[in-house]
Amino acid sequence: MCGIVGVLGQGAAAPMLVDALRRLEYRGYDSAGIATLENGNLARIRAEGKLRNLAAKLLEEPLRGTIGIGHTRWATHGRPTENNAHPHATDKLAVVHNGIIENFRELREELIADGCVFVSETDTEVVAHLVTRQMRTMTDPVEAVGAVLPRLHGAFALGFIFEGQDNLLIGARRGAPLAIGYGEGEMYLGSDALALAPFTDTLTYLEEGDWVVLTRNSAEFYNEANQQVTRKKQKTQAGAFLVDKGNHRHFMAKEIHEQPEVIGHTLAHYLDMVALKVSLPFELPFDFKNINRLSISACGTAYLAGLTAKYWFERYARLPVEIDVASEFRYREAPLGKGDLSLFISQSGETADTLASLRYAKSCGQHIMSVVNVPTSTIARESSVVAATLAGPEIGVASTKAFTCQLAVLACIAIAAGRARETLSETEERRLVEELILIPGLVAEATKSESVISEIAHVLAKSRDVLYLGRGTSYPLALEGALKLKELSYIHAEGYAAGELKHGPIALIDEDMPVIVLTPKDSTFEKTVSNMQEVAARGGRIIVIGEAGTAFDAGLKAEASIDMASMASDFSAIVYAVPVQLLAYHVAFAMGKDVDQPRNLAKSVTVE
Ligand code: M6R
Repeated sequence: MCGIVGVLGQGAAAPMLVDALRRLEYRGYDSAGIATLENGNLARIRAEGKLRNLAAKLLEEPLRGTIGIGHTRWATHGRPTENNAHPHATDKLAVVHNGIIENFRELREELIADGCVFVSETDTEVVAHLVTRQMRTMTDPVEAVGAVLPRLHGAFALGFIFEGQDNLLIGARRGAPLAIGYGEGEMYLGSDALALAPFTDTLTYLEEGDWVVLTRNSAEFYNEANQQVTRKKQKTQAGAFLVDKGNHRHFMAKEIHEQPEVIGHTLAHYLDMVALKVSLPFELPFDFKNINRLSISACGTAYLAGLTAKYWFERYARLPVEIDVASEFRYREAPLGKGDLSLFISQSGETADTLASLRYAKSCGQHIMSVVNVPTSTIARESSVVAATLAGPEIGVASTKAFTCQLAVLACIAIAAGRARETLSETEERRLVEELILIPGLVAEATKSESVISEIAHVLAKSRDVLYLGRGTSYPLALEGALKLKELSYIHAEGYAAGELKHGPIALIDEDMPVIVLTPKDSTFEKTVSNMQEVAARGGRIIVIGEAGTAFDAGLKAEASIDMASMASDFSAIVYAVPVQLLAYHVAFAMGKDVDQPRNLAKSVTVE
């Protein structure tokens, strides 16, 4: 993940920026840079590779000035070269950016038609040119930024400084976190509390859609509608430890809200966003063309990520997939062909049953691939190929961001398999990659339903049983919804393939039974709607998670609806995971349960 810092100080800004960037190194990066204002003039130094390269350049050519911005970049749009490194600058401003500007291609074309000359391959440069162009008619940089932000789509955070304005730093947050820090006659900006820990322990976290105008003695906050708002100051513990809840009550809430950023970061690792194709960050010791069968094995939520991926591997790569929970797989003595592929999915990389399954598959001569979040884990070490999820540390026992990052990685691998097996055309790959690029922004959008979800949760918290229904990739998500709800709230919940309803579970439906129906607009949408009708006909209480108007259009009276943005259906499960997670979180919170550490559960299950 890229890292952002900003300093509006009294002393030299450059050493402070480098110091703060060092604390963001853990996020991963491949180039770095800083820009300062020397006597009101913009100056910048950037370097490929690690911070020591930047520090060496700064020794030769020190940057002066008391205001500046800094950045560590993990390449997304364009290679990790000095030219693509941030800050990006024009004669008016310098900008640093974390995340993805989804509509950068359209904006770039518009700007080129207007005479702008682009010097990098990045999406960030469109932001620099858009604000600069705006300043031709609006000389006030604050007004110009306020006018440009609504034109940017996606999940991102930004930091700006302006030529001739040595008491002005602007930050903006849309999907990717950003905090400001308060010093004595100084102000700071950072991707997280950790970056700012050497300078201050007093912070304000920007809320979704916020932007902030900083001077050395003031911070003015604006919301997405450009209305001035107030935001709370708080003390942070980040100086002591990397793991901080930010402005969230629980780690789980923080981890749900981190998803736009970490999914974007993970996708950036697996996609070439310029060529619009999958680019796996590892060599495969086998050819997908020669694989006859894929066996997937995992536990809990990781198993459900695998079950979702089964749909993708079968659809895009025409590769038969067999999937089982690891505790069954390890003992059922499945015949596994030599030279075929076994895939293991695990957040911790230490789950005992998954590890035992891996060892069994290895003993059968299978190629061993794992999707793990902890790269130093045993499962990673014992695999021949490791596909890393870049979700960062997941502290809440309930898996959230690790799950959606697993889905993102699995989607990319399935597309790569489809290309290798020639079952997916280049055009199809391009279309799927374009859909994936939109996911972080859609996930950010989905978090906005939180207040509606919290109201629904208060009612749901009184239930004894809850049923989740879905078809296609929404079926594993229905199972995941039920798993999340039971592990956090201890309410009995079941997930079913909606088409299975009439084969038994429909007997459960009465006026006390809440039925949560996942209805993305995919090829089975109409069928799911029919299943909703069956529930309604028996007096069941329907809660729809789908596009606005889904129940109404079907002539149904739903008890509640969680409205989702309209989206392509291939990877909707990644986006629909968000309301499912938020619902379980809010039910548990309303019931006063221990959200981060539910009873009887451990984060890493290292025993069978
Ligand atoms: O570390 P792993 O991904 O291997 O863990 C697997 C399961 O124990 C885990 O996903 C569990 O189901 C979660 N608590 C669910 O939220």
